[in-house]
Amino acid sequence: MRSFEIPPGVVAPDDYEPLARERLSPQAWAYYAGGVADETTIGWNREAFARLKLASRVLTAFESGGTGVTLFGQHFEHPILLAPAAHHALAVPEGELATVVGAGGAKAGMVVSTESDFTLEEIAQAARQSSRPSLWFQLYIQHDRGFTAELVKRAEAAGYGALVVTVDAPIHSLRNREQRAGYKPTKLSQHPNLRGLHTSHVAEAALGESLMFRGFLDVATRWADIAWLRSLTSLPILLKGILNPEDAETAIRHGVDGIIVSNHGGRVLDTVPASIEALPAVARRIAGRVPVLMDGGIRRGTDVLKALALGASAVLVGRPYLYGLAVAGPAGVAHVLHLLRCELEIAMVLTGCATLDEIGPQVIWQPEAPGETQ
Ligand code: FNR
Repeated sequence: MRSFEIPPGVVAPDDYEPLARERLSPQAWAYYAGGVADETTIGWNREAFARLKLASRVLTAFESGGTGVTLFGQHFEHPILLAPAAHHALAVPEGELATVVGAGGAKAGMVVSTESDFTLEEIAQAARQSSRPSLWFQLYIQHDRGFTAELVKRAEAAGYGALVVTVDAPIHSLRNREQRAGYKPTKLSQHPNLRGLHTSHVAEAALGESLMFRGFLDVATRWADIAWLRSLTSLPILLKGILNPEDAETAIRHGVDGIIVSNHGGRVLDTVPASIEALPAVARRIAGRVPVLMDGGIRRGTDVLKALALGASAVLVGRPYLYGLAVAGPAGVAHVLHLLRCELEIAMVLTGCATLDEIGPQVIWQPEAPGETQ
């Protein structure tokens, strides 16, 4: 792997964003930074975090503490994972092979996308040759269920520790920023993990015709597929893209082991709420039966703290590490994760929390209830 350097003056995760924009082609920038339609939800993901205020505490006596967390029997040094994202080779030619080295450097778990630019086996191999970050595999259930079953077996054989089944993107959204920039999505069977997949069902809609209701949804994933998947593998299964507590409940009935509250970084259905707004109701409904994770808009350690306070066991970040990757390869990925972790630790100390278990709703500032003023 060639060597990369962190540019001077980069001290916060967001500092990578303008530098990444300079380095990426306009098409790649539109793909990474953009979302669906007017990108309203992308803005809300950030704004909702900014609106939450923290309640600081002073003079707390800390004897020991830390950021460790165990999920599905796997230990993580901190609760910040790399969200699955397609096409890391748009950032650097080494793509996911570079990302995984950065994840290892930051002792972060990484979720590898079905639509990665290297095969899941190649990425697992790169992980083994570096500092062995925990890898999970993100699965898009394909219309060809036999092919999907093979993909699951491949992930198991390559040592992936969980399946993250993304359920909020059954169809390709119309991302206007990408369209305007002339970004051309990769054809399904050209993704390295999907070589050999038949895609004859993927139709192009002619003007005036409906794309959705011409047989396409007949092959779309449904709840029965989750039950089928459950019967297929003993790997922990997480469903990613849940915003509704009813869906979370149904997921549990279908035997899933974890929920990821996510709006796909505002890339699928515009004007759905911020993930952090949807989190509390889902966490309340799940009531500790399985871990709830979340992603969307996390750019600071204080955001991580807020997500944990509102019921998440861990969080995932997407764009920040992609920007780190574009600017400084594995070093940039590791640096972004490191900054988030340091900021989380500082925020924990200043809100009086020694461990993740101690982070609860008390760290979110509440206006004084009427009648309580002295
Ligand atoms: C994504 N995301 C995503 N999710 C998924 O399940 N499979 C995928 O292949 C991708 N691909 C992808 C590409 C790019 C460029 C981005 C930015 C995002 C969504 C991702 O996992 C996560 O939900 C969001 O990125 C979280 O929001 P932030 O952290 O980017 O604000």
